[in-house]
Amino acid sequence: MNAWANWENDFEIACAALAWQVELGVDEAICDAPVNRFELPAAAPERPAPSAAAPAATPTAATPAPAQTDPVAVAEAAARAAPDLAALQEALAAFPHCDLRLGARNLVFCDGQQNARVMIVGEAPGREEDRQGKPFVGEAGQLLDRMFDAISMGRAHPDPSRALYITNILPWRPPQNRDPSLEERAMFRPFVLRHIELAAPDIVVLMGRISAMTLLDTAEGITRIRGQWRELAGRPALPMLHPAYLLRNPAAKREAWADLLALQARLRGDG
Ligand code: URA
Repeated sequence: MNAWANWENDFEIACAALAWQVELGVDEAICDAPVNRFELPAAAPERPAPSAAAPAATPTAATPAPAQTDPVAVAEAAARAAPDLAALQEALAAFPHCDLRLGARNLVFCDGQQNARVMIVGEAPGREEDRQGKPFVGEAGQLLDRMFDAISMGRAHPDPSRALYITNILPWRPPQNRDPSLEERAMFRPFVLRHIELAAPDIVVLMGRISAMTLLDTAEGITRIRGQWRELAGRPALPMLHPAYLLRNPAAKREAWADLLALQARLRGDG
């Protein structure tokens, strides 16, 4: 076979492999640039298996075992050291212990007004949020905007008592919008708590199950605790049903409306 025929053959095989993946439901590439695995450096030589003649070294005072990095402790130190929101965003971008950053297009930090009386904490960016680098800009975000518009509040409102400030537990999009793992939630929790401290809202809205469970450190379900005022970082916090849940369960909009009215009353000082 000449080189041209070879190339044609490879091309057809690659096309068939791609078509097969699409048929299986693959709908996106995880990295921006393709990775040519034939060009990756050769694997590191395998270590010889420990033999009876050379037993594995046990750590002694002279050779201490390498300390395991605790991502939560690293996150706590990095978050504590951030003096303002810009520094906190930089600390998140530099935080190396979450592989989600490798597959994400953008870090999603915040949207809205930093002096807003109400701060909303959602779950994690989806596809559209990842694309735009802003929280709640996809379908669920549009519903969130309509919900708050119904009580005359919004992320672009210039009046702090009507404005919203919005963030998420995770700053990076999980693949296929899967739920954030317990480890991911634990390592970003210190950043979110510091985010709340620095933004200093009067009220925090915990938007959805993941946000409420992570920040209130509870196993109680969201349908049980929604609408119940809790305390978070010295502030009143209101767990609410996530707009993505409301899109799937429109009948639950009644509860969401009750929670919005409770929020409005609390902001007016009569709730
Ligand atoms: N859902 C969230 O919880 N956050 C977003 O930013 C988008 C969807």
